[in-house]
Amino acid sequence: MHSAILGTGSYVPDRVLTNADLEGMVETSDTWIVERTGIRERRLVASGQACSDLALEAAQQALLAANVQASDIDLILVATCTGDTPLPSTACLLQHRLGATQAAACDISAACCGFVYALSIADVYVKTGMRHVLVIGAEVMSAITDWTDRNTCVLFGDGAGAVVLGQGSEHSGILSTHLHANGRLSDMIYVPGGGSTEPASEQVLKEKRCFVKMKGNETFKIAVKSMEEAAHEAVKANGVTMSEIDLFIPHQANMRILKAVSQRLGLAQEKLMINLDRFGNTSAASIPLALDEAVRSSRIQSGQLVLLAAFGAGLTWASALVRW
Ligand code: UT7
Repeated sequence: MHSAILGTGSYVPDRVLTNADLEGMVETSDTWIVERTGIRERRLVASGQACSDLALEAAQQALLAANVQASDIDLILVATCTGDTPLPSTACLLQHRLGATQAAACDISAACCGFVYALSIADVYVKTGMRHVLVIGAEVMSAITDWTDRNTCVLFGDGAGAVVLGQGSEHSGILSTHLHANGRLSDMIYVPGGGSTEPASEQVLKEKRCFVKMKGNETFKIAVKSMEEAAHEAVKANGVTMSEIDLFIPHQANMRILKAVSQRLGLAQEKLMINLDRFGNTSAASIPLALDEAVRSSRIQSGQLVLLAAFGAGLTWASALVRW
């Protein structure tokens, strides 16, 4: 028996930051951003809005869609690298706000792969007896973005997506998940300061070491190869062919990455889910955000095969194949 996605939800904050806005903040242009990334605008939190605020909205929608009460959740997993505070976990804050008193709760740290990692963990728990697991990807990337660094500040956005996992059937649900990591390449995307290596200090702040650093160009090449590999792995493990995939939802990092991966996989453009142009790279939130949009706009129909593939800091990469 497979576990299945019973309902989805998502939330993005109201504030829109356009490429034109960025032109007034750093030396960049709408043309450069659109050509090199495909991003046109992104959402940013309002002052005082934190990760759990975004997660709460997405979670409530997912519970409603799944017709599941908060009291019937056994576990809450929040995939995030931008939680409200280092302690406690954002999942615990959410557990309280949802009134999910029976649920265990913790955060999952796997950067942009966080949602697929959390989905994989939730899948195992449902298969081994849990009733419902709430899986959320939520990020306030704007909190760890250096708004004076044009190499990174044009890329990221804030948002959240959620799914409720429960009992599926023999033929439908999460067919497989595959997770990978290579810590040798941990310096490709990282935040040097603010943790136990370089605790928060005036120096860390002054040198902007509490913000994301990325070797963009090198990361780009590895991202394409890794997502292609993870996608092939998912298809092969289930004895299906790539042509049977109805919708491909990759982590929304860069339009050129998305197009290169789907081209290498031989997937037609209309099978590729894209919302990067409106939301930028929302890290762990990107796949569940796109998934919810696909469900609500009826791009996913019952019986269809949906392929998820992610890539991110760690480095980590992962895939999941879902029969809807
Ligand atoms: O989500 C986790 C995974 N993340 C990713 O997968 C991100 C992967 N990487 C990327 O998406 C791309 O590498 C970037 C969008 C980050 C950069 O695009 P690129 O085509 O790799 O550009 P580049 O870093 O090679 O830079 C090309 C030029 C440089 O100028 P010079 O040295 O050639 O004179 C940059 O300084 O573009 C310049 N540049 C910019 N120019 C205008 C970099 N950022 C900007 C900018 N506006 N915002």
